[in-house]
Amino acid sequence: MSMLKHLEILMKYSVRRSEDYDSIRGQNLMVFGRGLDRAWEKEACWECFDETGAVAGFCSAHILNEQGEQTLFLSRAAVLPHARGNQLQRRFINTRCRYGKKVGCDVAITYTSPHNTTSSNNLIREGFEMYVPHYKWAGKDMLYWRKVL
Ligand SMILES: CC(C)(COP(=O)(O)OP(=O)(O)OC[C@H]1O[C@@H](n2cnc3c(N)ncnc32)[C@H](O)[C@@H]1OP(=O)(O)O)[C@@H](O)C(=O)NCCC(=O)NCCS
Repeated sequence: MSMLKHLEILMKYSVRRSEDYDSIRGQNLMVFGRGLDRAWEKEACWECFDETGAVAGFCSAHILNEQGEQTLFLSRAAVLPHARGNQLQRRFINTRCRYGKKVGCDVAITYTSPHNTTSSNNLIREGFEMYVPHYKWAGKDMLYWRKVL
């Protein structure tokens, strides 16, 4: 992608911290279907808006305390169908990593399902590497990712 195109996308969309949990629940339902009714209030959430103010997606993360180490878990991200293909998932990853660093996390972790190559490739592009956790907390078939912040 050319630098100009990249700048256009950056200008067209803005990512902001959000506590609009009704909006986030609605987007979650739209993208993931009837899944877990997650307690979004416990997570740090962000929403992305286009230049008309229409919502384009959301992401969430929360801090885990493990053996004295603060770790940021990237818990969920969704880009609404009309806004896909604009590298917004990478922006969501980057935004959360910057937040994690700011609040004192040493590491960010997440997981993907093996068929979700888009998400895996975007994590690689944002500096994540695969690792083998001691305990496969998201399921034995998942791929596990981490990045030192
Ligand atoms: C996975 C997801 C977050 C990717 O978001 P994104 O910001 O659109 O990602 P990208 O801009 O990198 O584009 C993804 C791919 O779609 C392609 N694409 C381009 N235009 C597109 C369009 N209009 N619609 C859909 N895909 C498009 C891109 O070329 C890219 O292909 P690549 O993976 O071969 O590079 C998004 O598709 C999504 O929300 N999916 C459902 C939920 C999900 O899987 N969430 C992540 C796990 S929690």
